[in-house]
Amino acid sequence: MLEQPAIEAKKVFKSFKTVQAVKGVDLQIERGHFVAILGPNGAGKTTLVEMIEGIQTPDSGEIKVLGKTWKNHSAELHREIGLCLQDTRFIDKLRVIETLRLFGSFYGLHNDRVEEVIDLVGLDEKRRAYVVNLSGGQKQRLAIGLSLLNKPAILLLDEPTTGLDPNARREIWAILNRMKEESNATLLLTTHYMEEAEQLCDYVIIMDQGIILKEGTKNELLGEKKSLDDLFIDLTGRHLNE
Ligand SMILES: Nc1ncnc2c1ncn2[C@@H]1O[C@H](COP(=O)(O)OP(=O)(O)OP(=O)(O)O)[C@@H](O)[C@H]1O
Ligand SMILES: [Mg+2]
Repeated sequence: MLEQPAIEAKKVFKSFKTVQAVKGVDLQIERGHFVAILGPNGAGKTTLVEMIEGIQTPDSGEIKVLGKTWKNHSAELHREIGLCLQDTRFIDKLRVIETLRLFGSFYGLHNDRVEEVIDLVGLDEKRRAYVVNLSGGQKQRLAIGLSLLNKPAILLLDEPTTGLDPNARREIWAILNRMKEESNATLLLTTHYMEEAEQLCDYVIIMDQGIILKEGTKNELLGEKKSLDDLFIDLTGRHLNE
């Protein structure tokens, strides 16, 4: 049998009262690919990604992860995916190492894996620090560390670097690029930053107002355009970060 795609969405719709957040999205992401969903505030990125994560249910349409639906395979899928929500709340009075061990225990992992992850996300020096005292970038690296504990086949990150300074952003990119070299995981991230999509991802999906405007490899998308920002203005008449 042919290998199923990592993520597949067909004609997915989702509304909240008066807002149509996602309006008929189709997408297919192959295993091992790094894909960015690029779009401004309110584009529907979080709603779409949370449906892929099984946190929200589509009003209509179908989502499959590794060929499976959330309805019938939620326990298996939870073992296969790692996720990082747009805003992670930690337990302030736990230390970094305690937080990682606690989450590791949910997966029945040994402390060896916790040590690997603490090294991977560069938090060894902060292992005894209380989470409440971490900087924004360190908190985000911890959140990514938690999402990597179970060696997920699919990693879903919702705006992993929003609000971070350029240095902290590059540290996160380095972690993800290392993951790309060392594993065959699939990554889907959302972002407002053109540069992030360009630095990390082979394939970019441009989303606005609940629909996919355009998608492709960077080269396919750019064509004659100088930057993805120029392309976005062409598609919508606005800057991405307006
Ligand atoms: N739980 C909810 N209840 C009501 N409206 C919602 C809810 N969640 C999202 N929306 C609306 O759906 C639309 C899409 O929101 P969503 O959070 O998916 O966008 P986004 O692309 O993730 O934006 P951002 O870049 O700001 O995170 C917005 O108009 C938002 O106000
Ligand atoms: Mg969002």
